[in-house]
Amino acid sequence: MAMYNDKVIDHFTNPHNVGEFENPDGEGTYGSPVCGDMMKISIKVKDDVITDARFKTFGCGSAIASSSVATDMIIGKTIEDALAVTNQEVLDELGGLPPIKIHCSVLADHAIKSAIFDYAQKNGKTYKGLEGFDPNADEDDTNHGCDMESSVDAMVDEIKSDRLKR
Ligand code: FES
Repeated sequence: MAMYNDKVIDHFTNPHNVGEFENPDGEGTYGSPVCGDMMKISIKVKDDVITDARFKTFGCGSAIASSSVATDMIIGKTIEDALAVTNQEVLDELGGLPPIKIHCSVLADHAIKSAIFDYAQKNGKTYKGLEGFDPNADEDDTNHGCDMESSVDAMVDEIKSDRLKR
């Protein structure tokens, strides 16, 4: 059974909105110390509307596909509407991720909020959707088996233990 659907594979192999802006209106990064994935999101904002977004990700295919879809989803939205986009909506738009990779999509969500937080700080703005958000909160250190290598290792271990049981 294929681990990833066609849409995820397409966004992973042909990601949209890759890169960064020379003069972003807001920029945010988020990384996991466990798997080593880092994500940076840059946004351009005009009249409280996100006119463009870019991402750079060092890490797994699920994180890349999630950022590609998530940036597509926020471009053209007002800041409040972009903040209201849920992780589940990003997952739905992607057509789902394997359970072990769902957490990868949270990187995109957090990095987008961080970029908007940066924009808000620089412009003295407050948004309801940012209430309680702390970009410097402890990075997620849940072991979500997120890099490809550890996913493969986990699968190999599973197969081995399955064989031993027989
Ligand atoms: S987010 Fe860590 S490997 Fe996917």
